[in-house]
Amino acid sequence: MDPFTHNRDLRNLMLRETFVRTVESYAEIDSTNTRALAIVGDVSVEHPCLIIAERQTAGRGRGANRWWSSEGSLTFSLLLSHDIRGLPLARWPELSLTVGTAVCETVRTFLPAGDVRLKWPNDVFLNNRKTCGVLVEVPPAPQGTIVIGIGLNVNNSLQRAPEELRQTAIAMCDVADQPLSPDRVLVSLLNELERQMKLLQKAPDQVRATWRKFDLLLGRNVTVGHEHGAITGTAQGIDDDGALLIQTQAGLRNVYGGVVQSFD
Ligand code: BTN
Repeated sequence: MDPFTHNRDLRNLMLRETFVRTVESYAEIDSTNTRALAIVGDVSVEHPCLIIAERQTAGRGRGANRWWSSEGSLTFSLLLSHDIRGLPLARWPELSLTVGTAVCETVRTFLPAGDVRLKWPNDVFLNNRKTCGVLVEVPPAPQGTIVIGIGLNVNNSLQRAPEELRQTAIAMCDVADQPLSPDRVLVSLLNELERQMKLLQKAPDQVRATWRKFDLLLGRNVTVGHEHGAITGTAQGIDDDGALLIQTQAGLRNVYGGVVQSFD
């Protein structure tokens, strides 16, 4: 077995049932995104490349966030290039929302009674608690390559977690009231992501309608932090180009980057 194949069955399943062409699986790694960035220029790695780990010792999140992976969670990154070839760089903010949209659709398929929402740009909430975080990174080279890192709470129940954490996070199994198959969730998610990325290029209005349907922030008071400070106002929805629209006292602002610090 090669050093990158911790789970051979998982690797074979992903190659058979999804669009990924390379799989690296690890029992433990620092961060699957960091690994993806390290092999981004390796021409022997066929894309899409899936890097998946049971545990991360230095999982990274958006802004100052860290990401703890515990047993039963799905922790992986996708290294993509040709699947987004038709999408100009200026439209990549839409790609970020599309990832969150695909996760929402997948979670809803497994939990039809759950309240699934997209918190701009790509956090996924389930019954008002965060169940998935996404970290999209664009390496400086080669152009046209992107790393999509996803941490999804599937079977890592938070029911016995400290109260403080239980107020803010949830796993899919906490709503299902039984364990789910992380492998089946992953197959569905990758297939949904492939479908949504194709739609984004051929019929973008369909993807936009879906992310609007899941919009958690619409009509809420939000504060978004970015490198030049913070913007506070009422969220007015998500624009076609992926911007969060915020009605501030100074007028309507289109926000492309940053982290939502609070919403009520
Ligand atoms: C966030 O909520 O701020 C984003 C969290 C993203 C976590 C995932 S887990 C897999 C991938 N590897 C990382 O180091 N981070 C992402």
